[in-house]
Amino acid sequence: MTKFKRHLITSALPYANGPLHIGHLAGVYVPSDIYTRYLRLRGEDVIHICGSDEHGVPITIKARQEGVTPREIIDRYHELNKKAFEDFGISFDIYSRTSNDIHYETASEIFKTLYDKGEFIEKTTPQYFDEEAKVFLADRYIQGTCPHCSNESAYGDQCERCGTSLNATDLINPRSTISGSQPVMKETKHWYLPLDKYEPFLKKWILEGKKHWKSNVYGQCKSWIDQGLQPRAVSRDLDWGVPLPIEGTEGKVLYVWFDAPIGYISATRELTADWEKYWKDPETRMIHFIGKDNIVFHCIVFPSMLNAEGSYILPDNVPANEFLNLENDKISTSRNWAVWLHEYLEEFPGKQDVLRYVLCANAPETKDNDFTWKDFQARNNNELVAIYGNFVNRAIVLTNKYFEGKVPERADLSGYDREVLDTMPAIHKRLEESLDQFRFREALREAMNLARLGNKYLADTEPWKIWKSDPERVGTILNISLQISAALTVLTEPFLPFSAERLRQFLNTGPIGWERAGESDLLPAGHAIGGGGLLFEKVTDEQVEQQVNKLLATREANKNDGNKLPPAKENISYEQFAAMDIRTGTVLSAERVPKTKKLLKLTIDTGIDTRTVVSGIAEYFEPEKIVGKKVSFLVNLEPRKIRGIDSQGMILMAEDTEGRLVFVSPDGDIENGSIIK
Ligand code: MF3
Ligand code: ZN
Repeated sequence: MTKFKRHLITSALPYANGPLHIGHLAGVYVPSDIYTRYLRLRGEDVIHICGSDEHGVPITIKARQEGVTPREIIDRYHELNKKAFEDFGISFDIYSRTSNDIHYETASEIFKTLYDKGEFIEKTTPQYFDEEAKVFLADRYIQGTCPHCSNESAYGDQCERCGTSLNATDLINPRSTISGSQPVMKETKHWYLPLDKYEPFLKKWILEGKKHWKSNVYGQCKSWIDQGLQPRAVSRDLDWGVPLPIEGTEGKVLYVWFDAPIGYISATRELTADWEKYWKDPETRMIHFIGKDNIVFHCIVFPSMLNAEGSYILPDNVPANEFLNLENDKISTSRNWAVWLHEYLEEFPGKQDVLRYVLCANAPETKDNDFTWKDFQARNNNELVAIYGNFVNRAIVLTNKYFEGKVPERADLSGYDREVLDTMPAIHKRLEESLDQFRFREALREAMNLARLGNKYLADTEPWKIWKSDPERVGTILNISLQISAALTVLTEPFLPFSAERLRQFLNTGPIGWERAGESDLLPAGHAIGGGGLLFEKVTDEQVEQQVNKLLATREANKNDGNKLPPAKENISYEQFAAMDIRTGTVLSAERVPKTKKLLKLTIDTGIDTRTVVSGIAEYFEPEKIVGKKVSFLVNLEPRKIRGIDSQGMILMAEDTEGRLVFVSPDGDIENGSIIK
């Protein structure tokens, strides 16, 4: 790492159209903050860049939905998100925004340079146009019927019911969501970045030169490149974004994925007049922290742009993470399935480090991972409280009790003492190696191993039992424990900065240099420590239950949301359908199955015979009220024994998303046994 003079760390610019949640922190900002803090502690020249991504169609849609301007949306979420990052100690050197003038200038300049160099391809193609609103329609502004599942509210880029990704032209009966009118096709001109032309560069730069990248990142790049790259449009017909810096192109803006990564450059310009050394000196090491959905833009598109421009450096590494799920379900802003950072802080005030800890310990570094409140509680109670907190608390309390709060002298060392002191530099070294390779979970485990070492040392040596007989030995043990505590203020700092600071206060010490963390004289004998206190508190069962209940309520609310019908099942053949013998029938009698809540025992006249069936509808229908009911009946379902009763067939019912049931009855008088087909 010493071969670089300085480091430029970037964290993906979050869209300013919604609040931040735990997935953001776990995927991008906790790792990037740990890494930046680590480099700072090592005395490296480093800046950490981030800001709001304030363009793109979702922002204009949200504004339209709320009846406000996009400006109002971005102002709201820029402030909210900036504050959430600050509250969680994500230590950016600047949190900028892509609506700033300096960004417009920078993005326009870079586009202009590429344009003047003749890098772009110009193409005119037909696109959907809303004749009433007089605008070209982004895919998200077009709705219509999904050709796969007949969902009538599928979008021009995706059907959210069956998950298929679509082209706007696939939709049946397309309509504009702006005016409701039927869009027409109209020719429009756009500028394309010829990624195909950059393939030789990308092959050499990534496939040959970046074999050390994380395998998930390298693998995705390789698969993109192997599939063959296509030119990508970098302009859009939209009234929200950086205007295209070409004469006569009113109504056209830069595509959000063209301007957003340039935001890293504009933010650096805003931060320092000396910005060029970070972007144009090959001795700068640039690292992009992102989530996996951003890989293609940061590894293929943005480097291609920079390389074509010619005067910028390219990233040295792009340590992208996979996704974090929440209680076994994909985190989703629209379904409100998330733990929002600003809400967490209201419910767990002062516990930023706990969330940082859990999200790092369980970070989706190599595969998608799951966040559960049970795990949150367990990691807090069994690790932070029981190991780290317990150890330093004991060391401090005992020092106050036996030595009036002064670090005691170390006398003769036992073999165990030496072993413990020798382990400190070893942990320090392993932790550095892990961090250097972006293995943050492993690094955190090493930091906790130091706390574990101290905790075990105190538990094994039991100084409270030998105070009367051997106070000198107690002094040695506590001295060593306090050295370990001091080392913990250093090694946990990148991960748990708030607790590290509190621990320094408990120990009455200032910051200790990173390189000293393996040493054994961090607090000299005679040094007066502070009063102490609890570093961590237990998370109670009630707190966990409250959070889980909140999620259950969300799940309930989503279920009741009419739009959330399950997707269509896989196609079946006509033969499979025809194999079912469905007939009309009549309910002859109905009674409850004793000792059950849901089951009714029914007899049915099927026209061909009289059958007994057991049906799970007792919660919805009184037995006496359904006698005489006409039903549709599956006759050839294999008989099953239910509660000791032979159930011979099945009554067809319709069930809505809330679980309500109605009979599927023939509409009209028809004799029992008629075939339904
Ligand atoms: N806003 C994008 C997202 O949340 C990330 C943009 S990163 C940048 O997925 F590089 F383009 F800025
Ligand atoms: Zn569909």
